[in-house]
Amino acid sequence: MIKPLAILRVAVPTYVLFLIILYFRGDPLPPIDQKTEFSPPLEILIPKTIHHVMIAIPNFKPNSHSISWQQSGWKTEYWTEVACLELAQGLNASYAQVFEQFPAGVLKADFCRYMIMFAEGGIYNDLDVHLMKPLPWEVMGPSKEGNKGPPSLIIGLEGDGTTKGLPRSPQFVQWTIASAPSHPVLLDALTRITDRTPEFLKKQQDDKNGDADVMNWTGPSVWTDAVLAHLECTEMQLEKLRDLKHAVRIKDVLLLPKRAFAVIQGEDHKNPDILVKHYFSGMWKHEKSWLSRILPWAR
Ligand SMILES: *[C@@H]1O[C@H](CO)[C@@H](O)[C@H](O)[C@H]1NC(C)=O
Ligand SMILES: *[C@@H]1O[C@H](CO)[C@@H](O)[C@H](O)[C@H]1NC(C)=O
Repeated sequence: MIKPLAILRVAVPTYVLFLIILYFRGDPLPPIDQKTEFSPPLEILIPKTIHHVMIAIPNFKPNSHSISWQQSGWKTEYWTEVACLELAQGLNASYAQVFEQFPAGVLKADFCRYMIMFAEGGIYNDLDVHLMKPLPWEVMGPSKEGNKGPPSLIIGLEGDGTTKGLPRSPQFVQWTIASAPSHPVLLDALTRITDRTPEFLKKQQDDKNGDADVMNWTGPSVWTDAVLAHLECTEMQLEKLRDLKHAVRIKDVLLLPKRAFAVIQGEDHKNPDILVKHYFSGMWKHEKSWLSRILPWAR
């Protein structure tokens, strides 16, 4: 007959030996990945949807950039030109009218992103933007200084003190925008574009060989103007924005330094503050007019 104590005498050393073997065998635990050590903000105002616009991109196939968003755990939506027009018709008859009048796909793609962000909110991204940090980002959470709550609009600076040749200073990117729905900056951008489209159309007709002035018409220039109008910065704040080193909260808007959204292909991406990386494919069409002014070889 085996006594219980005898079983214990054998079982305990065996178990201890097993643990020792396990310990020296190496890593019985799975490696800690970024997602497990990361504590997401509890409260955010940005809806958990990623938006992409599929205008002026013939035969688009998923690439590593679009897949990075699909694997984020957030919903991903792809907007075709037809879907953008339907959205415009639902929002405001004037938007639908200008949308149909735009003579180039890039203008439609710009306008559609502002409509989507205004109507639904979420994160808008061009299709050549790669997600670098798990969602939701910490910056989406409540402000650490004061009790300002989470931001309702998050935008990134395109340049810093070393950047030359941008039409605006400071200038904000619009290849990535994170917003709550119905933000007044988005409405203002839509209004500015809608109101000035007849003027730009006329200029386009007068100068048949000229490129459409995309930057001023629908691009980063008009976007930057709408953002700055909302912020109502002092001269000192503006000066700080031109060479922003750390995220700054003004009203309900969180403004991120260049490295958050505007790190491009080839640049060092080890900084932990980099949230997305921009690969600039197809940017020629978009920013040709000002790029060719500063870079002769881009003509
Ligand atoms: C377009 O932008 C440039 C540079 O910001 C500015 O000088 C010019 O006046 C603008 N043109 C229009 C029509 O807004
Ligand atoms: C539609 O947009 C135009 C141009 O921004 C604006 O003047 C008008 O008030 C808007 N209409 C509605 C119903 O919001």
